[in-house]
Amino acid sequence: MNVLMIASECVPLIKTGGLADVVGALPFALARHGWNARVLVPCYPAVSDALREAVAVHAFSDLFGGEARILLGRTPSGLEVLALDAPHLYDRPGNPYLGPNGRDWPDNHLRFAALCFAGARYAELQPDGWAVDLVHGHDWQAGLTPLYLADPARLPTVFTIHNIAFPGIFPASVAPALALPPEAFTADGYEYYGQVSFLKAGLTLSDRLTTVSPTYALELQTPGFGMGFDGLLRYRSGDLSGILNGVDETIWNPGTDPLIAHSYAPSSLDGKRRNRGDLQRAMGLDPDPEAFLTCVVSRLTDQKGLDLLLGALPDLMADGGQVALLGTGDPSLEAAFSTAAVQFPGRVGVRIGYDEPLSHVLIAGADAILVPSRFEPCGLTQFYGLRYGTIPVVARTGGLADSIIDANQAALEAGVATGIVFSPIDAGGVRDGLRRAAALFADKPIWNRMVQNALRHPVGWERSAAQYDAVYRSALGIRAIDAS
Ligand code: ADP
Ligand code: GLC
Repeated sequence: MNVLMIASECVPLIKTGGLADVVGALPFALARHGWNARVLVPCYPAVSDALREAVAVHAFSDLFGGEARILLGRTPSGLEVLALDAPHLYDRPGNPYLGPNGRDWPDNHLRFAALCFAGARYAELQPDGWAVDLVHGHDWQAGLTPLYLADPARLPTVFTIHNIAFPGIFPASVAPALALPPEAFTADGYEYYGQVSFLKAGLTLSDRLTTVSPTYALELQTPGFGMGFDGLLRYRSGDLSGILNGVDETIWNPGTDPLIAHSYAPSSLDGKRRNRGDLQRAMGLDPDPEAFLTCVVSRLTDQKGLDLLLGALPDLMADGGQVALLGTGDPSLEAAFSTAAVQFPGRVGVRIGYDEPLSHVLIAGADAILVPSRFEPCGLTQFYGLRYGTIPVVARTGGLADSIIDANQAALEAGVATGIVFSPIDAGGVRDGLRRAAALFADKPIWNRMVQNALRHPVGWERSAAQYDAVYRSALGIRAIDAS
């Protein structure tokens, strides 16, 4: 069976966050359940540079203001990609969403409506004979797809919420330019308090909804986390599943990772110790073998709670810890961390920017990885931490709470702890979480046991792929019942 995924990012072609990791890895895991996946993404310059063996399979004479083609090609790892080549919309350098002034491109509504429209046409017309059985959209950029299906009763649709903080909202005045049906501008269509919301369309019109952890699926149904969509998601709770993300273990594996100097395995952690020294050198930290070394690899935004780490930093420094942070985002947070590196030389190392190779060096070399998010639909870096024996210290929310076994007394006695899960999510919580981790670090037998647990904790896609398979089958099943 064939599934068409629609998304704005996909590893290894274009990535700003975990969405790209998921879209680039899930298709391979689904293949084991009999699903052939193709991923439709915009043909940004980075995508056209990396796509191999691209051939045009469909053309539009006018797709929201210009000519466009759908190209079929593959990534170096063999993922089949459909790239929407529409130069008037996507032939722009840099970040997929933001212009050079750091603001959203003013025509983002056209750019991502075009993606949905092209996906719907491809699925229905089957221009190259690839029969789509199901359409799976990811996040708001894919939300309008069900609206553009000429015959919505024919193709089952699944929609995944990776982050409800991005609702894809535009003024109602954009609707005619997007050829949206006026009769669906209602509370159970694409209308959101008088505006157009791409996400809303995905949530109201898709047959099945998923999000990226069971806890976030519950949180989304509460006013505090639902960001205005909680009522709708309570209404649709019977169709909503929370499925944890996994890790692409061909990329994240300390035994084979080409981006770290010393490979290692659970049976011998010598390489990890040497990577620790590399990390300290790369980040300008003192070559202290005893200091408790925590890393962070993150977007610097309010969601990620890293202002809380700034609040906890003086106490952690007084304890003798080290912190290595790689991140980019909010200029005020970037400036504050750069200042902290000056204030605590040799103990706080900061690299502002997006740097895939350095992220591997940090995650392989550190003792712990901190994820203090205020909300976190799933999160991926805590999984990388587990995979590399780098103990996750995470806020008790969303997928973080679902993926780490807190080192509480019962878990320690049972010998199953894999990390620290802290609350409340404030500067005191971060400080106490890291202090709890540092105290365990000082107790080598306990710490070594946790590291072994972490290294052996399954983080691949197998279990989650089986759950997506079940959701897909249930979406197909509804159609079978409808048809009878
Ligand atoms: P989100 O998608 O909300 O940013 P995730 O934890 O799901 O959070 O995914 C983030 C992804 O982006 C991970 O693969 C992480 O390693 C990567 N990442 C985040 N910031 C950086 C950075 N500055 N440099 C390199 N990789 C980064
Ligand atoms: C979003 C979420 C993150 C999740 C990722 C992939 O970016 O913020 O928690 O891991 O999507 O699903």
